[in-house]
Amino acid sequence: MEWLLHIPLFLLTALSLVIQTQENQEAWRKFIDIEQDHAFFPQTLQFSIKQYNKNSNDKYFYKMTQLIRAQEQLSKGFEYLIDVELSRSICTKDIEFDPVNCRLQEDPELYKVINCTFFVFTVPWNGQYELRSSNCTDA
Ligand SMILES: *[C@@H]1O[C@H](CO)[C@@H](O)[C@H](O)[C@H]1NC(C)=O
Ligand SMILES: *[C@@H]1O[C@H](CO)[C@@H](O)[C@H](O)[C@H]1NC(C)=O
Repeated sequence: MEWLLHIPLFLLTALSLVIQTQENQEAWRKFIDIEQDHAFFPQTLQFSIKQYNKNSNDKYFYKMTQLIRAQEQLSKGFEYLIDVELSRSICTKDIEFDPVNCRLQEDPELYKVINCTFFVFTVPWNGQYELRSSNCTDA
């Protein structure tokens, strides 16, 4: 979150003002494709996957194996539509997830890949992230 400190305060303030002014206008509500490293996207993506794991009944953590599509639209905050491919890792949820050591399952019985669409509402400058909907194939 330290990078947030490097965004000049007046920019954030200006942005909030724009958003407040536009709050009731539909013109801003249009999803457009964004890059993987776009402004608030990386932490939104991380949040979504973490939340997915928290909510799922699976004994193992899933990790992202492919980012299929990322879209953003401006509303009262930023809204994201994210399509990702997730794969079951070897790490069970009773331990801390470690991206390096949590390799993918190799046992064909346990190997599993799913695709998910996440809809996330965020107000990044307030630290607010909400996974509003999540649907995955064969989950
Ligand atoms: C996930 O989506 C990708 C890209 O559309 C596709 O190639 C892949 O087969 C899908 N995987 C599953 C498990 O549906
Ligand atoms: C999730 O639901 C949306 C809307 O019904 C659909 O367009 C999308 O393909 C679904 N995604 C997956 C991964 O099933």
